[in-house]
Amino acid sequence: MTLPSKRILLIISGGIAAYKSLDLIRRLRERGASVRVILTKAAQQFVTPLAAGAIAGERAFTDLFDAVTEFDIGHIRLARDCDLVVVAPATADLMAKMAGGHADDLASTVLLATDRPILIAPAMNPVMWSHKATARNLAQLQTDGVKTVGPNAGEMAESGEAGTGRMAEPLEIVAAIERLLAAVDGPRGILSGQSILVTSGPTHEAIDPVRYLANRSSGKQGHAIARAAAEAGAAVTLVSGPVKLPDPPGMKVIHVESARAMLAAVEAGLPADAAVFAAAVADWRVAEAGTQKTKKTTAGPPTLSLVENPDILATVAKRKTDRPRLVVGFAAETERVVEYARAKLARKGCDWIVANDVSKESGVMGGDRNTVHLVTARGIEAWPSQSKEEVARALVARIAEALKVPTAPVK
Ligand code: CTP
Repeated sequence: MTLPSKRILLIISGGIAAYKSLDLIRRLRERGASVRVILTKAAQQFVTPLAAGAIAGERAFTDLFDAVTEFDIGHIRLARDCDLVVVAPATADLMAKMAGGHADDLASTVLLATDRPILIAPAMNPVMWSHKATARNLAQLQTDGVKTVGPNAGEMAESGEAGTGRMAEPLEIVAAIERLLAAVDGPRGILSGQSILVTSGPTHEAIDPVRYLANRSSGKQGHAIARAAAEAGAAVTLVSGPVKLPDPPGMKVIHVESARAMLAAVEAGLPADAAVFAAAVADWRVAEAGTQKTKKTTAGPPTLSLVENPDILATVAKRKTDRPRLVVGFAAETERVVEYARAKLARKGCDWIVANDVSKESGVMGGDRNTVHLVTARGIEAWPSQSKEEVARALVARIAEALKVPTAPVK
C-alpha cells in the first residue's frame, strides 16, 4: 500500500472522462487511501452519485445547500478533512471558476475553502485546451500552486477528434498523487529514519589517460530517485558516475569514474536500509589501460582486450553481512524486456528489478520519460509512461512501503 490512511477528496466535474474517475477511486482505495467524492451537477450526467459512492464506500456529495450533509459534515469540513484535493476530470469550466475564485456550487466552494494541496487532471476538447482563455486560467492556477497531471495527446471520445485533451490515465493520476503527497510529507516523510544508497550514471573505463569506454546513460533516472528519496526524508548516499547533472541537494554525493571505483564507493556506503542500482555500469574494461596516450603507428589500430567488470548489484545482493534489506536493480533492455528482467532478478539475487525499454525507439536513454515494469518475486507490474521524476517518486513510495516490514529481506 502506497497511500495508507491518506484521505483524498476527489472532485469529479462534467466530462466524458468522468467514467475513468470511478477506476481512479478503486485504484486509490487499493493503495490504502480513503476517498470522499464530490460530483458537480454536470458530472452527474456522466456518472451517478450512487456509483461513485458505492466504489468509494461512502455517500458522494453533490449539493452545497443539502440540509442533511451541511449539518452532518458541511462544506468547510469537506474542504479540510483531507490530505489532498484531486479534481479529475477538471473541465475548462471548472478550471475557469477556480482561476476566478468563484464559489457557486459545492465543488467550487470547497476548492476555494480548502487549505490542502490541489491536483487537477484537465480533460477537454483539444481546441478548448489550446484556447487562450484556458491557457490563461491554467497559468493562473499554476501560479496559485495548483498541480496538474496531463492532459495527454490521443484520440478523443468525439469521433474524428484528436489532439491534446485526454485526461491522464488513472494510474498516472495515482502516481502524481503519490509524488505530491511524498513531497508534502517532506523531511518527516515516508522514508525518514531510513538510509538509501543509489548508483547513477554511466561509468567510464579508461583505455589510456585520454580515451575511455562509456555508454549513453545520462544519470537522470538515478539522480531523480536519489532526490525523491531525500525529499521523502531518507539519508541518501548517491554514488554517481560522470554525468552532466548538478549534485542533488541534501545528500552525500560520491563521484566516481570506473566500475571498480563505483563498487568501492558502494561498499564504503554500507550499511544501508535499501540500495537502488540505477547506474549503467560498463560490463567490461580494458585489460590493461595505457599509462600514456596510445599513439597511432604504422602497425595499424591497437587491439583492445577486455575483461569483465565486477557486478556491483550482484555483489551487494549476495553479501552475507550488511546486505540492505531491499536491493533494487535496473534492467536496461532493447528487446524481450520482461523476460530478460525476470532472468536478471534470479541471476543477480536482488529483490526487485525495474525493467525499462532502452531501445532507440523508446527515447529513454537521455530522454525525460520512462516506461518501466516493476518485477518482484510476487509478479510483474506495468507502470504507465511517466516522467523520470514520477517514476522516482512512485518507486520511493514502494520502497517506503516495503521497508515498513521490519524483518529482512523484503520481497
Ligand atoms: N550492474 C551493476 N554492475 C555491473 C553491471 C550491472 O551493478 N557491472 C547493475 C546495474 O546498475 C543494473 C543492473 O545491474 O541495476 C542491470 O544491468 P544491465 O547492464 O542491464 O544488465 P547486465 O547484468 O549487464 O546484463 P546484460 O548486459 O546481459 O543485459
